[in-house]
Amino acid sequence: MLLGQVSWLDCFVFLVFLAPQLIIHVGFFPTLLCGLRALPFLCKSCRIVYVSIHDESLIKLHFIVLSAAHLADPFQRQNQTPFVQKASWFEDIVIRCVRYAFAYIPANIGRVFFSKPVSLPFLRFRMLRHGYFRSPIHWHEVNGDKFKGIWIINDKSRKPDIVIYYAHGGGFSMGSSYFYLEFLLALLKLLASPAGGYSNPAIFALEYTLVPDASYPVQLQQAIAGYRHLLSLTGDSSKICVGGDSAGGTLVLSLLLHLASISEKEKSNGQARISSEPAHGDLRPGMAVLISPWVTLHSPKSKNTSSDYLDADNLHLYALQYAGNKFSVQDPLISPGNCTDVSWWQDACPKQGFFVMYGAKRCSHPTYAI
Ligand SMILES: *[C@@H]1O[C@H](CO)[C@@H](O)[C@H](O)[C@H]1NC(C)=O
Ligand SMILES: *[C@@H]1O[C@H](CO)[C@@H](O)[C@H](O)[C@H]1NC(C)=O
Repeated sequence: MLLGQVSWLDCFVFLVFLAPQLIIHVGFFPTLLCGLRALPFLCKSCRIVYVSIHDESLIKLHFIVLSAAHLADPFQRQNQTPFVQKASWFEDIVIRCVRYAFAYIPANIGRVFFSKPVSLPFLRFRMLRHGYFRSPIHWHEVNGDKFKGIWIINDKSRKPDIVIYYAHGGGFSMGSSYFYLEFLLALLKLLASPAGGYSNPAIFALEYTLVPDASYPVQLQQAIAGYRHLLSLTGDSSKICVGGDSAGGTLVLSLLLHLASISEKEKSNGQARISSEPAHGDLRPGMAVLISPWVTLHSPKSKNTSSDYLDADNLHLYALQYAGNKFSVQDPLISPGNCTDVSWWQDACPKQGFFVMYGAKRCSHPTYAI
């Protein structure tokens, strides 16, 4: 199921679903205050839309009347970042809103944006707009003892030939599997297509507890429990591909380091185990696919840039909140980039290795993907 691009109508409907949830979860006055604070920003955005539309029609006029070859750039894009120079104004506005939200909207309000009661009706609306009364791909919620998530499968009557174990991003403070559901359904569709080559792909999206409701190690324990569930389901860890973006990437790397450390204990004390992990021999998954993973949680290399959504201070705040006050934010199981033990990484490496995707901005100073 591949739905079309998000439209202005979708944005409006999203706000309609969002407003009551904000009032329920945050309260009427804090929501109003946050809205009022955003007013100058929203006015500026509206002005950009107006100027863009106005200038676009002007451009057409110029073209017809003057057949001018060298028109002034209506967006004055030559001074903008490379992304903005290439983006449509819809994309430009969306990115501006996201950047504003990350900088000025508190996480307790931000998390409502991506929560199930907003994301799920929004997805249903988008499906309906594309002619789907119900999801053409099967999915259901899984509520295990120690983990929760969404199970998506091409054909539920058969065993999957690949399982993607996905952890979403959001700085451990925001995000939900439901916000990612459209992306995951599209991913499943592509895996099942002739180009994907799988006959019965499945995805398990982990719904881990967000900060501040819980901090480390709760999220890692849930990730481990979810992985153990998939091991029992597939009976073969090579069929599992772990994946995640941003903080989800952190969680995946921590999970891999954890699996390597229990395999190590197994090797050194025969069958003696300190944890209750099932005896599966090589627990490593087939592969790991990471999208802009947040590898080192607290690093002096994190810098404020004009193109990142988050500034360094906010990023570090998310990191400290995840580590909580009992653990160090530089513990390798919390911040995998702080694991400098090469043999530990060798043991943690999935059977087919890693595939990492990240973006970078071309400029004279080096930038760091976070
Ligand atoms: C963790 O990694 C950061 C960034 O590389 C580094 O500055 C810091 O010293 C590391 N901490 C430890 C305890 O290794
Ligand atoms: C980064 O930007 C924030 C504001 O967004 C500011 O408070 C902070 O001091 C800046 N940090 C650095 C290291 O420049």
